[in-house]
Amino acid sequence: MFETTRPAAPTHALRGPALTFRADPFLEGLEAAMVYESDAIVAMGAGKITHFGPADKVQAQLSPDLPVRNVGPDALISAGFLDTHVHFPQAPVIASFGTQLLDWLETYTFPAEGAFADKDHARAVAKIFLRESLRNGITTSCVYGTVFPQSVDALFEEAERLNMRMAAGKVMMNRNAPAYLLDTVQSSYDDSKALIGRWHGRGRLMYAITPRFAPTSTDEQLAAAGALWREHPDCYMQTHVSENLDEIAWVRDLFPARKNYTDVYDHAGLCGPRAVFAHGVHLDEDEMCCMHGTGSAISHCPTSNSFIGSGAFNLSRAKRADRPLRVGLGTDIGGGTSFSIMTTLGEAYKAGMAHKHRLTAGHALYLATRGGAQAMYIEDKVGSIAPGMEADLVVLDMKSTPLIDYRMGFAKDIHEALFIQMTLGDDRAVQATYVAGELQYEKAMG
Ligand code: GUN
Ligand code: ZN
Repeated sequence: MFETTRPAAPTHALRGPALTFRADPFLEGLEAAMVYESDAIVAMGAGKITHFGPADKVQAQLSPDLPVRNVGPDALISAGFLDTHVHFPQAPVIASFGTQLLDWLETYTFPAEGAFADKDHARAVAKIFLRESLRNGITTSCVYGTVFPQSVDALFEEAERLNMRMAAGKVMMNRNAPAYLLDTVQSSYDDSKALIGRWHGRGRLMYAITPRFAPTSTDEQLAAAGALWREHPDCYMQTHVSENLDEIAWVRDLFPARKNYTDVYDHAGLCGPRAVFAHGVHLDEDEMCCMHGTGSAISHCPTSNSFIGSGAFNLSRAKRADRPLRVGLGTDIGGGTSFSIMTTLGEAYKAGMAHKHRLTAGHALYLATRGGAQAMYIEDKVGSIAPGMEADLVVLDMKSTPLIDYRMGFAKDIHEALFIQMTLGDDRAVQATYVAGELQYEKAMG
């Protein structure tokens, strides 16, 4: 007998306005890429979406007994958000005053990360981090741990409890940081490999090989990270690139043989599909071509780029039609200042304006959903609403504050309504978050 995989029967559904993307609007245009239904049904079963479409059409395919939650006309159902770059151990140092990248690392970040040798501390912060992510509609993240493998165990254990699709990794760094945070070429390789064995592909969890950034790794450690990735090519590789001008000058001094910052990574075998590079604010044309050619992705982290004074990422240049990059959105907590994707999108708009680029709300919401999934090569699993996709969903409240409610009274179409949300919205805009079909956060519950 042949086994056939039939889609599971739906067990529950949401009904209300819904927004999703079926393509990249930067490449195909918003008209072709964005799907808005003013009255949709999204049905779910066994963790996946089973039905999606206009309510009048989908209803006929469903049992009249199926529990349907009507989210109401002032809500919007979207795919859950993806945060493609974030440091969970930096939740305790979000909002730290007065420094740019290298001083910020030394003054606030490294000391905070030192505390994660203690797994109980790591677990407590992981819980807060995941709760805050869900409060903001984030259902998938690409997360930095610390150098201590137990910090990554703590995060994965908590994410597994919530059944979240999550990538994370142990920081590899063997120089230019306090001694209490350093590993070695061998220990970083061994510890990362052991974590891959424990976690990668377990349920919805995925491992990210995580050299912190070029200045904190020797050539040998970067080569070891590259070798490990070649042994486990379906893992992620995450690091930082070209964030801050002093950092870039330092990389030039440390790696004089390499033609640019990106080449340091490429030389070590660290560019390719499932490589997620944070920031990339100052990438030159040659580096953009390398990112495009190797299928690497950039995580655009606008609140961090402005808060620690790194500059304004030029998104329209990154998406240039002749060599478009995969770009997701990152909160970059704790260099970033908000878990809110709405706030992050508003800041992405402002970064665009610094380059005379007008980021529409549709393009912005694509970055936060399907664009992030495309950056992580999981657009066949999450990031959009369609039958067969995993049922990670966020329900937005489109009238979450008195000011938004007032301003929405003047919105003439869905595009303007979405732009109001991304300019004025914050965590209050998230009404409910579903992970693999289960309600994991509801505003009414706090
Ligand atoms: N570069 C190296 N480490 C970090 C970090 O923790 N945060 C940011 N924003 N940039 C980095
Ligand atoms: Zn970062």
